Amino acid sequence: MSRFADKVAIVTGAGSGIGRAAAELIARDGAAVGIMDLRPEAAAETADAIISAGGRAIAVPANVADTGAVDEAVAKVVAEFGGLHVLYNNAGCDSSGSVAEATDDDWDRAMNVNAKGTFLCSRAAVPHLKASGGGAIVNQGSVAALVAVPNFASYCAAKGAVVSLTRSMAIDLAPFKIRVNAICPGTVFTPLMEPMLRARGGGDLEAGLAKTLLKYPIGRLGTPEEIARVAAFLASDESSFLTGSVIAADGGMTAQ
Ligand SMILES: NC(=O)c1ccc[n+]([C@@H]2O[C@H](COP(=O)([O-])OP(=O)(O)OC[C@H]3O[C@@H](n4cnc5c(N)ncnc54)[C@H](O)[C@@H]3O)[C@@H](O)[C@H]2O)c1
Repeated sequence: MSRFADKVAIVTGAGSGIGRAAAELIARDGAAVGIMDLRPEAAAETADAIISAGGRAIAVPANVADTGAVDEAVAKVVAEFGGLHVLYNNAGCDSSGSVAEATDDDWDRAMNVNAKGTFLCSRAAVPHLKASGGGAIVNQGSVAALVAVPNFASYCAAKGAVVSLTRSMAIDLAPFKIRVNAICPGTVFTPLMEPMLRARGGGDLEAGLAKTLLKYPIGRLGTPEEIARVAAFLASDESSFLTGSVIAADGGMTAQ
């Protein structure tokens, strides 16, 4: 399948987990992919894996919360591949603590990476998407934007902001044929989740996993590839009538 033949995509947070799976899938489907990640070695690793598999990719290390770095990274991808059609705002970070416990730093980190990062990368990408005659932006929400996750006040608020920003961008960018949708994944076992699962089990990962599974009617956690497939669908023309949609990909977690 080559849903992304002749297309150029940027995936943020593509050095690990869901972002890496999405970058690899979109590249297999024909896109040239800009791999944006805070960690240069992780960005390079994903780009190298794509190139070794016969795809096209460039590592553009950047902090999504840094305006100058984001603008530079987006410009580099466009210069390298000649345009831009897809942006997957996947980079995010967790931030624990109830509203009574969270520090200013916890709040700022969650808002800066998840919400401001989505804003900055989108702002940098939009002129190029317009120049391409349209495109697709996929934002990474979370079930934490739809239901409360105990003791994650800043993260819940930041992912809620991502969902609201998705709807706002969808209506503002529709005249330019730019579709904007969000995915709200349930728990996927990645480096981001491991400490959370361990904490939930009082330090015991297996106990944390067992407790988490109780919330999942499907009886298991998700995989990065399962979320990547939703992202690729939303980024491709297969979802041509979807914009402003918020898709829960959560094994039924928010259905109960
Ligand atoms: N794993 C889950 O259960 C889950 C559930 C819901 C939502 N999400 C969201 O999915 C996204 C990806 O999570 P994951 O589980 O694949 O995590 P992960 O830790 O495997 O990967 C996240 C990547 O983002 C990068 N990153 C972090 N901060 C960054 C920044 N400021 N600028 C650029 N890159 C940065 C990291 O270096 C890392 O490579 C996040 O937005 C997360 O909130 C994850």
